[in-house]
Amino acid sequence: MTAAARGRERPMSGNRKRLHIKTYGCQMNVYDSERMRDVLAPLGYEASETPEGADLVILNTCHIREKAAEKVYSELGRLRPLKAARQAEGGGMTIAVAGCVAQAEGAEIMARAPVVDLVVGPQSYHQLPELIARAHRARGEALQTEFEPEAKFDRLTAERAVDGPAAFLTVQEGCDKFCTFCVVPYTRGAEWSRPVDQIAAEARMLAAKGVKEITLLGQNVNAYSGEAPAGREADGRWGLAQLLRHLSLIGGIERLRYTTSHPRDMGDDLIAAHGDLEKLMPYLHLPLQAGSDRVLRAMNRRHTFAEYAELIARIREARPDIALSSDFIVGFPGETGADFEATMRAAREIGYASAYSFKYSRRPGTPGAAMPGQVPEDVKSERLAALQALLDDQQRAFNDSCVGRTLPVLFERPGKRAGQLGGRSPYLQAVHCDAPAALTGRIATVRVIAASKNALAGELCDRERGAA
Ligand code: SAH
Ligand code: SF4
Ligand code: F3S
Repeated sequence: MTAAARGRERPMSGNRKRLHIKTYGCQMNVYDSERMRDVLAPLGYEASETPEGADLVILNTCHIREKAAEKVYSELGRLRPLKAARQAEGGGMTIAVAGCVAQAEGAEIMARAPVVDLVVGPQSYHQLPELIARAHRARGEALQTEFEPEAKFDRLTAERAVDGPAAFLTVQEGCDKFCTFCVVPYTRGAEWSRPVDQIAAEARMLAAKGVKEITLLGQNVNAYSGEAPAGREADGRWGLAQLLRHLSLIGGIERLRYTTSHPRDMGDDLIAAHGDLEKLMPYLHLPLQAGSDRVLRAMNRRHTFAEYAELIARIREARPDIALSSDFIVGFPGETGADFEATMRAAREIGYASAYSFKYSRRPGTPGAAMPGQVPEDVKSERLAALQALLDDQQRAFNDSCVGRTLPVLFERPGKRAGQLGGRSPYLQAVHCDAPAALTGRIATVRVIAASKNALAGELCDRERGAA
């Protein structure tokens, strides 16, 4: 073989570079980090678990709460000596800030943290190769925070590296809801949906690589409205329910999920899909945020608690065993003790299988930040502790109710102990089970024998044991 042919066969052999990406925030950032890896792989970048000795470090950041944003600056502080050490060795470390903090505070980061070489917003990371080259030439030119989701998805590589049998797939970007506490409409821009054909092509590629479960992602995923597939142009745009039905026809894809949804966009067709689309898993994250109508109005959530409860009743009618999840904010400006009690009552009335709860965090530029009646920190802490205790109890009770049941589990990875595998139930619970490694990436029937707050323990049913 000639040297040139060898070069073509292994184009990166002489040019390996180490890439470390640290991801903060929501699943959409997890997806974006994976895609950044895909974009950079052809340039010779290989993933590295730690930042030490990396040629390129990307912090994919989150701006949702003050603490999340602060983490970026402390991480940059930790990276400074590592970069200096690389330089002392005669090497270099390019440091990039990506994601929602980059979008919201890009210029400020460049000014405040000279260690940063480039800043790239969530809609611009397809331009990373170009930005890295620019950063190497001159600092200050490498800031890209345009909103161009269309260009981003068009220019992403068709290939995706796959990590296990469950994958995320972003179908929708941005948010037009403008809840008064939230930065997302500012950091991610206006709602935009990928065309159905583009999504289906990505899903088929994932299926061909052994993916069994796809979670469709969007900041407001049930507002999905994407260009209909070729041959169905007369339909105009398709909603999420149509997209789910379309994807359920792809061979190899056994499970579909979607997150995150807004109660206002929970259409009848989507509710119906929960009743008759077998591959759509019985789990729904539908954030309520607060139980008091007064607070919901001030948050601009555009629904009352009664409307939410009625919606849940209809969803449960379609799919009685559905596991529900929510996000809650305590201590929104003006929230009284009685308002908070309404949140506790609401959580009790609905009964969640799992939920996230947060203290309200004042975000610059959002309407909530300027509202009167900001709630003192100690009151927020007290309310959060009470709500979390209730939600923990509900989660434990839901997990306990699964003991004795037989559930299909998608095994994703080795379990905590030798001889174990870890996977997910249809209700998104973590399940640990003694099982042969050959079952990784497959769905097997498991009898649940014990439960804790965070996980189920199971044993393989005889049929599965025999099959493996
Ligand atoms: N699009 C999703 C939520 C995205 S942010 C939705 O509409 O529900 C995830 C969660 O973070 C939100 O549901 C909310 O509970 C929380 N959150 C957003 N802004 C916040 C803030 N300023 N303070 C505290 N929690 C916040
Ligand atoms: Fe934020 Fe509200 Fe949009 Fe969710 S719906 S991303 S909470 S503005
Ligand atoms: Fe955070 Fe941006 Fe997601 S602010 S929650 S990373 S959309």
